[in-house]
Amino acid sequence: MDHSTHLRFLDEDMRRLETLIAHAARADAGLQRKISSKENFQLLNLACGACNEAKTLAKVFGISDRANEENRNMKFIGLDVRDREIAEATARFRSDSNSQFEFINGDATKLEKYRELSDSFDIIFMRHQNLWNGKRTWEEIYHKALEKLSPSGRLIITSYFDREHEQAIEVIKNQGGQLLVTEANKDSRKLPFNGKSVDRHLAILKRK
Ligand SMILES: C[S@@+](CC[C@H](N)C(=O)[O-])C[C@H]1O[C@@H](n2cnc3c(N)ncnc32)[C@H](O)[C@@H]1O
Repeated sequence: MDHSTHLRFLDEDMRRLETLIAHAARADAGLQRKISSKENFQLLNLACGACNEAKTLAKVFGISDRANEENRNMKFIGLDVRDREIAEATARFRSDSNSQFEFINGDATKLEKYRELSDSFDIIFMRHQNLWNGKRTWEEIYHKALEKLSPSGRLIITSYFDREHEQAIEVIKNQGGQLLVTEANKDSRKLPFNGKSVDRHLAILKRK
């Protein structure tokens, strides 16, 4: 795929992700309240890779690029185990004027190690959770994510596959999560692998 096609797909995927989150959030009054309030807000994006979704999440949850707009005080932390992707995310999104974006090259199964992480987050987001790539690892990631969630916080996941999504929800429930919303993305972009598509499903969960 050439670079301009890649960027076009990226833009479209982000527009569709924004619509998907906004639509699913309408079915969750607690999340809706969080989105519309002006209170300070902490978001942790786990296993974020190069964090293509950073600006989209910031937009959905209340900070804009425009300096003259009234932004809530939001902290956005992305974390991934791959150093190259985190370096790319830092170069793309972190700057003096965007100091609310922070990226950590780290292991999401060991969140307690990172002192820069606060005790609790309003939103923990995992785009394209990867349960099928290592059940034990992802069980631990979900467990640590739920521990870091505030009592009214929301864990939001997206998945590439139907069955992987269902299984991830079951695993998170077993770890103490409660499912609030799950939604199929009717505009999900198909990928060359059978049954795989971008942000094919989204689920919103909280702690029981
Ligand atoms: C399917 S990719 C999704 C990346 C990105 N969220 C996206 O949607 O493009 C799964 C990500 O999980 C990350 N990952 C796997 N195990 C991890 C761990 N223990 N701690 C942090 N990140 C991990 C991988 O490095 C990879 O970036």
